[in-house]
Amino acid sequence: MTLSDFDINSVSGDIISRAVVILRSGEPVAIPTETVYGLAADAYQSHAVARIFEIKERPLFDPLIVHILDETWLPELATDVPAAARRLIQRFWPGPLTLILPKTERVPDLVTSGLPFVGIRSPRHPVARRILAELGRPLAAPSANRFGRISPTTAQAVEEELGNRVALIVDGGSCEVGLESTIISFAQEQPQLMRAGGISREAIEAEIGPVTRAMGVLEKPEAPGHLLHHYAPQKPLRLVDQWPDLPSSEQIKRAILFWGSAPQHQFRFTRNLSKDCREAEAAGHFFQMLRELDATDAEEIIAVRLPEKGLGVAINERLSRAAAKRS
Ligand code: TXA
Ligand code: MG
Repeated sequence: MTLSDFDINSVSGDIISRAVVILRSGEPVAIPTETVYGLAADAYQSHAVARIFEIKERPLFDPLIVHILDETWLPELATDVPAAARRLIQRFWPGPLTLILPKTERVPDLVTSGLPFVGIRSPRHPVARRILAELGRPLAAPSANRFGRISPTTAQAVEEELGNRVALIVDGGSCEVGLESTIISFAQEQPQLMRAGGISREAIEAEIGPVTRAMGVLEKPEAPGHLLHHYAPQKPLRLVDQWPDLPSSEQIKRAILFWGSAPQHQFRFTRNLSKDCREAEAAGHFFQMLRELDATDAEEIIAVRLPEKGLGVAINERLSRAAAKRS
């Protein structure tokens, strides 16, 4: 099911109210967003935010994104919003775009890992929006997976990741975008792309001109190794530039993730991200198909790199991390 098929009325007001009661009480709730499912907590309650780190087993130096209903909530969280950031907001909110902006006193240090900047986005999934509107407070929410693992794009995947650790998982169908938000930082004079995601770099640059590619918090040399565990399936994953030339006796033991048309082959498990090579469709399928292949008894997953443009860049980046050897 895609978000466009998703009927907000199928989520009862009772579930929304329960989610809000739990959030007010200082416990996290797993909620759907258009990118991936998030593990959300009241951003203003430090102990609720601390529970997120505990549940995810996430290191405290990895800051969280704060979710708001709309731009009118910004002044409570950010002291300065440059003109280029305003333009991106006009164009892409609500949607899969996170902006890193100078934070106000109101934002607990735990949310930003002590950084003077906070990541903020306005999600467009109707269920996330209903919860934000009823709670009336911003929600800190990382992806609802255990640290370093594959991001969940269905309520079922959240259940597998965190089932017995969260008080409530609100089911909002399959995530429409399927990749985490694109992160643009305004911590420096020149806007920087910190994470490729659900909005392509080309679309961002069409709005505000060239952005430089910077390293995210977890990729900095001070935190060696952590990058390597990101988006990691259980199984070894090998990233290749084109359809691999392997003997059938080797193909039969393996799983393959690709897009477009497949030549004759003997791979035991296959997932096609998009038969017609559509980026948005591939993004929507990506984490779910990776999760499915990881659950097979293949001895290795082979992933064929997508063309390095648009959302293909974001998918390839996640594949590279998934392929990186664990230290
Ligand atoms: O689409 C998304 O962004 C999803 C949904 C739930 O909204 N959230 C998400 O959160 O992907 P998470 O925690 O898995 O990834 C957020 C990343 C952090 O790992 C960090 O690198 C970066 O955003 N980040 C957050 N706040 C930051 C800050 N103040 N400065 C620099 N980087 C920040
Ligand atoms: Mg994550």
